Order: sequence, then C-alpha cells, then structure tokens
Amino acid sequence: MPTSGPDPVVRVFDDPAGVARAAAEEFERRALRKAESGGDFIVALSGGSTPKRLYALLAEPPYADTIPWERVQLFWGDERPVAPEHPESNYGAARGALLSRVPIPPGNVHRIPAEQPDPETAASSYEATLRSFFEFGPDVLPRFDLILLGMGADGHTASLFPGSEALREERRLVVAPWVEAVGSHRVSLTCPVLNNAACIVFLVTGAEKAETLRRVLESDDAGTELPARLIRPRGGELLWFVDRAAAARLSG
Ligand code: 6PG
Repeated sequence: MPTSGPDPVVRVFDDPAGVARAAAEEFERRALRKAESGGDFIVALSGGSTPKRLYALLAEPPYADTIPWERVQLFWGDERPVAPEHPESNYGAARGALLSRVPIPPGNVHRIPAEQPDPETAASSYEATLRSFFEFGPDVLPRFDLILLGMGADGHTASLFPGSEALREERRLVVAPWVEAVGSHRVSLTCPVLNNAACIVFLVTGAEKAETLRRVLESDDAGTELPARLIRPRGGELLWFVDRAAAARLSG
C-alpha cells in the first residue's frame, strides 16, 4: 500500500444499514461544506450492490432536501460495458435509486459511455470528459472531493482487478482492461486518479470479505494482488465504513 497520505480511518457499524447511514451523513456534510465555500461537490460514485442502500437513503428526506443537488457533480469510478438500461449498469443503478428522485441537473451527471463497441474509445471519451470538466492540461490529475469505492472478495476495487495491467497505469486517467474474472472489458478510473482524491470512502459489508479486508488493512505483504491495498490518497483522507461481518477478522 502506498505509504503516503493519512492513516486509514476504519469505522465499524452493526449492519449494512449503519454503513449506508454513515456514508449518507459523510456525503451530506462534505456537499454542504463545499457549497458553503462556493464550489461544486465533485463525486465519483461506486458500482456494485453495496452502495445501493446509500443511494436510496440520499434520495429520501432529510438528505434529499438538505443536499444542494444543483451543486453536486456526479461521475463514476467504473462502468460495465452495457447500456444504461441494462440491469448491470452502475449508472442505471444510481439513476433508478437516486438520480430520478432528486433535483440534480442532468448536466451535472457525467456517466461513463461504456456501452460503446470499442472499450478503448469509451475510456478515451471519459478521459476527455474529465479533462474538459476539470479544465486541466495533459500532466495534471483531476481531484475529486469524494470517491466512493467498494471492494470485492478478491480485493478488486472499481474495475481494477488482481493481476491487471491497469494496476500499473501511471499516465492515463481512464482505462478499459479486459477482466477475465467477469469475462468482459470494464472502464475504470486509474490508481493515480483515485489516489489524488480529497477523500475516499470504501463501503464494505459481508462476511465473505472479512479475510480480504484483514489482508488489505492489516497484512504487510507488499504484493499488488490486492488492488484495494494500492488505494491511499496522497493528500486526502481514506475512510473505511464496514459492517461487523466484514470486520470480523480485524485485530482492532
Ligand atoms: C463494480 C464496482 C466494484 C464493486 C465491488 C463490490 O462495478 O462492480 O465498481 O468494484 O464495488 O465489486 O461489489 P458489491 O458492492 O456488489 O459487493
């Protein structure tokens, strides 16, 4: 795990509902703070099933009413190679649970066009979207205010899977690796972008992730076979919101 950045903060909650509530409070707090400073709150959402509870919470009072949605800019950390209407779409999941229920301007929603036939074109297109939105040149990284991430039982995060060449990408912002584990390409932000975030919040629940979580947080083997170990924002916060089942093997 990169040694830079503040130590990870691990918060353990009784159950997935507790994890979602804490994440909703963190999202609201940071969104309000950014709006008070006059800026937009720039977020990359996670895919997978864990954050769906969070998205549903954010779509209901109080969060639906307190969060300044017109000041929220939404991106995604990764996407599957499917259309937005497909049940596997990360954008589609967030649209159903959240975007269709809060007054976020359509222009503030920047989905990954991963359904394009050529995954590399999709990655390049999203990279261009990032460069245009953040208005920076070729050698600067975007800095998200918040990136939400999940973790698979194999230690993958976003669509950065064990053994993938994408783990060693240092120049590109977005890649489209073939992922053998899922038998398809994925489009994903790269480690440099993730590690440039002001804050990363991992949401991890379930007993099936307990051993991997222990290895990511407590083992010192430097191998890159656990991609989540590579995520350590240099000048940002790293928070792990986990439930008791996932935390069962942590020593702390
Ligand atoms: C995805 C995610 C992926 C996910 C983990 C955990 O597109 O699937 O980006 O990294 O966060 O696989 O998924 P669950 O939350 O479903 O366990």
